[in-house]
Amino acid sequence: MAKLWEKGYSLDEAVERFTVGRDYILDLNLIPADAVASIAHVRMLASRGLLEDDQARALEEELRRIAREGAAGRVKISREDEDCHTVLEALLTERLGDAGKRVHTGRSRNDQVTAATRLYSREALLAITGDTLTLVERLLDRARQERATVMPGRTHLQIAMLSTFGLWLASWAEQLLDDLELLQAAERLNDRSPLGSAASYGVPLPLDREMVADLLGFQGIQNNVLAVQHSRGTLDGHIAGALAAIAATLGRMAQDLILFSLPEVGYVRLPSALCSGSSIMPQKQNPDALELLRSRASLVEGWASQCRGVVRGLPSGYNRDLQDTKEPLLRALATLREELAVALVLVDRLEPQRERMLEALNAEVFATDYAYQLVLEGVPFREAYQRAAGDYSQRDLPDPGEALARRTSTGTPGNLNLEDPLQRLAGHRKRVGDGFARHQQALKNLLGEEISLLGRQDPPGEDSSREAPR
Ligand code: ARG
Repeated sequence: MAKLWEKGYSLDEAVERFTVGRDYILDLNLIPADAVASIAHVRMLASRGLLEDDQARALEEELRRIAREGAAGRVKISREDEDCHTVLEALLTERLGDAGKRVHTGRSRNDQVTAATRLYSREALLAITGDTLTLVERLLDRARQERATVMPGRTHLQIAMLSTFGLWLASWAEQLLDDLELLQAAERLNDRSPLGSAASYGVPLPLDREMVADLLGFQGIQNNVLAVQHSRGTLDGHIAGALAAIAATLGRMAQDLILFSLPEVGYVRLPSALCSGSSIMPQKQNPDALELLRSRASLVEGWASQCRGVVRGLPSGYNRDLQDTKEPLLRALATLREELAVALVLVDRLEPQRERMLEALNAEVFATDYAYQLVLEGVPFREAYQRAAGDYSQRDLPDPGEALARRTSTGTPGNLNLEDPLQRLAGHRKRVGDGFARHQQALKNLLGEEISLLGRQDPPGEDSSREAPR
């Protein structure tokens, strides 16, 4: 296909290879979103008299077809095509002639790619938030079941004080709810239409930016057209950064489970179905999935850092550098979806070994409790501390249930106060439900059917039938 900027010379082969990079593979992910955004653009052009009604109708019909074919993975992009925007316009021109040549009126690939990326991210983030909430819900469910399952709590990995498996489970749920607040901030910034910003400075046509935003189900427009371009890689960094927070939480939870499932510890058993074997050591059942949750946390953080690195120090207006935040963003989104699916299985199927946890309660676990017993009898804390240090190991172990019941203040092992995270969970659920409804309604209005913009589910550019990563 001819390049959109074709003016009668051909690009040096090495330069072309370098500038296109992996964009022509990555853009396979953006075809449905690009087509949807184009339908909204076409409707707006027609409403402003910038496009004949019958041409707009024909374009819309073709764009719907492209969205469907793109979602099914049937649209091809070659390196010479450069990107999905070129293919989209070429298909429209090939099928419709003059109407196809008019579709780029009032836009640039710069706002086009931003719009497609935001729509794609919006759906992916709704899915990720939904999956995170399901994980939070399961963690809280299990926390309720295990609220009386006593175990040693550790600091510095050493025995510290009495804890429960319920406290441990609910702690990750609450951490994930915190992470979701970061993600929510990124989602809000993402949920603004960039269209109409064109190359970076708008166009001398009376475009109705608000109408386009409305049709696409965005909360509104992003006001300043130059700020739109500045926010592209910056926003990708915010999104990947918030995803990295979730990944970090999952990685830390996984690290604990690796320790808890050590034969020498044995607080938790992982069913065989969750463990891989060794090719040499017949006895092995390894927690590989947990280890990869740990390493992926670093990968996602790296992708966030790549996005931030690309935009650092960029001059104002569009710069081609921005193309390079696409892959880390897409990888972060795809990786989180995989991670959450695995984390959910792990949390659902891990088997707490209550007896082992109970047996692990020794005098050390209760050393501080002894000191507090004395405090309640009126001994000053520092003196109680000294006395307990001297004789904790000779004391009878207290009844763990009674020790737990003495922890009455909010959020402690004896009083998990799960209502608090449950309430936060419900708030997020409502928000995601509303967001999904708005997203799907917009797509349905534009496409006449429900379609997922995420289309093919494999991570970006990983499909070996297309091209091995170079
Ligand atoms: N693939 C490009 C990107 O992601 C599309 C925009 C190209 N714009 C340009 N002025 N060369 O940024």
